[in-house]
Amino acid sequence: MLISVLQERAPEETRVALVPAAVAKLAAAGHRVLIEPGAGERAGFGDLEYVQAGAQIAAQGPERADLVVSVRPPAAEVAARLRRGTASISFLPAAQCLDLVRRLADGGIASFALELVPRISRAQSMDALSSQALLAGYRCAIVAADMLPRPFPLNMTAAGTLQPAQVLVLGAGVAGLQAIATCRRLGAIVKAYDVRAAAAEEIRSVGGKPIELDLETLEGGGGYAREMTADRARRQQELLGPHVAAADVLITTAAVPGRQAPRLVTADSVRMMRPDAVVIDLAAESGGNVEGSVPGETVRIGKVRVWGGSNVPGQMPGPASQLLAQNIVNLIGLLTGREGGFSADFEDEIVAAACVTYGGQVRHAPTQALLRERLDAEGPPQ
Ligand code: NAI
Repeated sequence: MLISVLQERAPEETRVALVPAAVAKLAAAGHRVLIEPGAGERAGFGDLEYVQAGAQIAAQGPERADLVVSVRPPAAEVAARLRRGTASISFLPAAQCLDLVRRLADGGIASFALELVPRISRAQSMDALSSQALLAGYRCAIVAADMLPRPFPLNMTAAGTLQPAQVLVLGAGVAGLQAIATCRRLGAIVKAYDVRAAAAEEIRSVGGKPIELDLETLEGGGGYAREMTADRARRQQELLGPHVAAADVLITTAAVPGRQAPRLVTADSVRMMRPDAVVIDLAAESGGNVEGSVPGETVRIGKVRVWGGSNVPGQMPGPASQLLAQNIVNLIGLLTGREGGFSADFEDEIVAAACVTYGGQVRHAPTQALLRERLDAEGPPQ
């Protein structure tokens, strides 16, 4: 296959879809890789490294490629340059880019969304949500340790004892567990809460202390959480209040797939924390777990500083790209036919689940429904 690596058009995107080591693997498997000039620069990979790995620098990659790979969805300008039958792999949050999805379908592009790869054992090596969440969770802990004006570990000295920092983590999925493990390694005492029943054991396994609330667990499909009712949200906020007030650091990472991030902590609760406490809201971009958090900014709620996450994996663009690239290489393997060309076997549940558009159609059912809703809202053409 001729594979084109796009230069990310979004100014805030620092990652790149393939790193030189991944290019070398694809070249060894018989693929040819074209890379737009400077595509890896923000992630720390220069053009020369790509050439040494076997890639060719080419500004006209998209129009020639059998497959384009990018972190963000291809920009409309790039999508317009793709030939019919070209495949595309990227994150593709369809609800936020319905126009692009329509364009990809109309243009006969076979598009695959990294975030739709199912969370099954066989797909673990392609699970970009996990690889990126892992780094995001680590980063949350490091930012918290940097912002907190006191040490994380217990210090017993001749001049007295400094107690360890008290960290509270809400949401213990991939990112939350990594945040717990990192805070523990830095010496903090960590408590954590998650609505899934399995979470308590997972929290213990990384050295945290699970908080038990007198509330039912909320299991959804595929090991994910379910959305809370307004009543449950209020009750959970109340019960968590004393734990929030006692924490030096609050890290929130809760999410429900396809929904706004659940509101876990009110601004009033944050105001009850000690004045030098810090709050890290990883979910700030998807609505915020903490009332008042702002993505990409540190704001004050009362005296407490609240850091809102924004493309947090992209704050470590080199390793984030390295892991993402390996996820993409593995997915490319699944989309390569016996002759080495692009081939989508929809009998394979990973291929079927990750595909958004193919053969001129939108295949992903929830996106079809969103497009129908939009058409209904717009009414018949005038
Ligand atoms: P996520 O990013 O969708 O959500 C993060 C966490 O927030 C989840 O643990 C969720 O239970 C929690 N949460 C949601 N609403 C909450 C609320 N109201 N209060 C407190 N916590 C709340 O989840 P992520 O990290 O993507 O993982 C979700 C599940 O998928 C986990 O069970 C994880 O173990 C599983 N998983 C399975 C994989 C596999 O089998 N290949 C790979 C990765 C994750």
